[in-house]
Amino acid sequence: MNYLIRKEKSQDYPKVREVIKSAFSREGKDLVFNEWVLVEKIRESEYYINDLSLVAEAEGEILGHIMFTPMKIEGDSIPFDSLALAPVAVHKDFQKRGIGKHLVRAGIENAKNLGFKSIIVMGDPEYYTKFGFEKASKWKIGTTNDFNDNCLFALELVEKGLVGVSGIIEYCPPFYNEKGELI
Ligand SMILES: CC(C)(COP(=O)(O)OP(=O)(O)OC[C@H]1O[C@@H](n2cnc3c(N)ncnc32)[C@H](O)[C@@H]1OP(=O)(O)O)[C@@H](O)C(=O)NCCC(=O)NCCS
Repeated sequence: MNYLIRKEKSQDYPKVREVIKSAFSREGKDLVFNEWVLVEKIRESEYYINDLSLVAEAEGEILGHIMFTPMKIEGDSIPFDSLALAPVAVHKDFQKRGIGKHLVRAGIENAKNLGFKSIIVMGDPEYYTKFGFEKASKWKIGTTNDFNDNCLFALELVEKGLVGVSGIIEYCPPFYNEKGELI
């Protein structure tokens, strides 16, 4: 199947919403908040990076979407800049055909070109290790101080991109609710 990976445009937003819904919809999940709402919150915020918000398109249809946002790794004294990969979604009818892989690879390339040094992702170990991600605990990067998250992964975009970097990850504000909880 021929498809193109490109930056999303505002006219894609309704179709992107449908793709994310089709990929993530789970019965019984809270309807107040979902991944497509997160993407829309990010777009309205100062943390949106159009160069890192990509779609896979074939014949005018959107088949997949990926978004990266700035992230901080809060060290003992200084915060380090990184990038969060979340979410990535491929329409349920087009999964397992390589589209997700191309979106992730294109995003990694764009992030490198923009000068980012690392990417953090929370997700399936089997999936993300294919792209070179390693357990974030290797660098003492985690969601809590014990750094034993099994689903948190990090990728260096430049040699030693994470050397000397350790701490607790902090997504950009749209990822948190009014109580400061990760949504
Ligand atoms: C996860 C997702 C984006 C992958 O996209 P995709 O287009 O289906 O994946 P690809 O076809 O590019 O798969 C690439 C490789 O990962 C494997 N893979 C695909 N989905 C996987 C999963 N959920 N877990 C583990 N491996 C997976 C494929 O078998 C393939 O392996 P190969 O390279 O050895 O052949 C897609 O399945 C999806 O939208 N899932 C629902 C939403 C989600 O969970 N997003 C991720 C969390 S933010």
